[in-house]
Amino acid sequence: MANSCTGLLSLSASALIVLLIVMEHLTRDSMASAMAVTKGNEETFEYFMFSQEWPYTFCTENEPSCNNTDKLVPIFNIHGLWPEKVKGDCQGEFNYSQLKPVESQLRKYWMDLLNPRGNPKDFWNHEYTKHGRCASVDSRFNSTLKYFQSALSIYLKYNVTQFLKSAGIVPGSTSYKASKIIEAVNSAFGYKPEIDCFAPGKKHGEKSKPAYLAELRICFSKDLTPRECESSGREVPQPRHSAHTLYYDPELPRSFHREAEANVYSPIKMSRSVKNLIASWIETERPTAVSERKRIWTSPCKDDEDVQLPEKLNY
Ligand SMILES: *[C@@H]1O[C@H](CO)[C@@H](O)[C@H](O)[C@H]1NC(C)=O
Ligand SMILES: *[C@@H]1O[C@H](CO)[C@@H](O)[C@H](O)[C@H]1NC(C)=O
Ligand SMILES: *[C@@H]1O[C@H](CO)[C@@H](O)[C@H](O)[C@H]1NC(C)=O
Ligand SMILES: *[C@@H]1O[C@H](CO)[C@@H](O)[C@H](O)[C@H]1NC(C)=O
Repeated sequence: MANSCTGLLSLSASALIVLLIVMEHLTRDSMASAMAVTKGNEETFEYFMFSQEWPYTFCTENEPSCNNTDKLVPIFNIHGLWPEKVKGDCQGEFNYSQLKPVESQLRKYWMDLLNPRGNPKDFWNHEYTKHGRCASVDSRFNSTLKYFQSALSIYLKYNVTQFLKSAGIVPGSTSYKASKIIEAVNSAFGYKPEIDCFAPGKKHGEKSKPAYLAELRICFSKDLTPRECESSGREVPQPRHSAHTLYYDPELPRSFHREAEANVYSPIKMSRSVKNLIASWIETERPTAVSERKRIWTSPCKDDEDVQLPEKLNY
């Protein structure tokens, strides 16, 4: 016993000597850069959140700019692959020419829903510049092509439209409990999704407004294997209770359009984002106190306790 311990000690002592000799030969600068590389690869971000949008809800949120609705198909569309908990630098530039080999697939699955007939290049550029660059220190994602290929491979391998379908959740005029949607993804994917939902405002005196499934977000480790999402900290409307029902509509929500046609106040017509929508709603309703405001904001897509307005939906 004593002997083997001594052996170990002398082994680690000689290892230490070797290390010291190596260190002596390294300059301060090269040590620093060696450490920076390690830091870059391991700590620049923790994991990916893969966000997919339901085209019809997205268009409803963004009318009137999303006007070519005949181009939409009832299949989840890629919104983005977002590095989460980014600590390092976001580097590099969007390089459209690299995307040639995957462009036809991207055009199909990563549409710019704001402009379904146009060139999605600007949207891809936005997503890469804002999110993709933050993964580029990792050599697995260090080019525009690698980043978009990663998103496509995830999309093709983990089909959330199919996950829902397998659990009997299909686009139509039925609404589904948020808990059922979450469970469907959980059982097919292994982890719960983050849900983003949308409820187009509620007038005084109204008890509730229908809520719509807007986005499903699932998370991945850097090796692109599934993992759980941590709280993203994004100020986006979330289903208040898992008991809430969400519509998963294969067309633009009808009730909403009836309201617009009836020439009732239509916040959607006036704004391009939920934030503006809410701002314009405040403007119109002029709540006098926070409690009043809170009452107005009580919506299926917002936590009762959380009276803060969404900061921005500019992701
Ligand atoms: C669709 O919306 C875009 C952006 O708002 C606008 O430029 C275009 O003229 C619209 N097209 C139609 C057919 O309304
Ligand atoms: C874009 O990528 C291609 C292929 O890797 C490369 O040849 C080209 O120089 C890049 N363009 C820019 C502006 O970096
Ligand atoms: C990306 O990483 C690969 C190693 O996988 C390396 O050969 C290549 O030079 C890197 N490209 C850039 C732009 O850093
Ligand atoms: C995903 O699943 C849906 C529903 O089954 C299907 O229509 C669609 O083609 C699938 N998408 C891909 C890329 O396989």
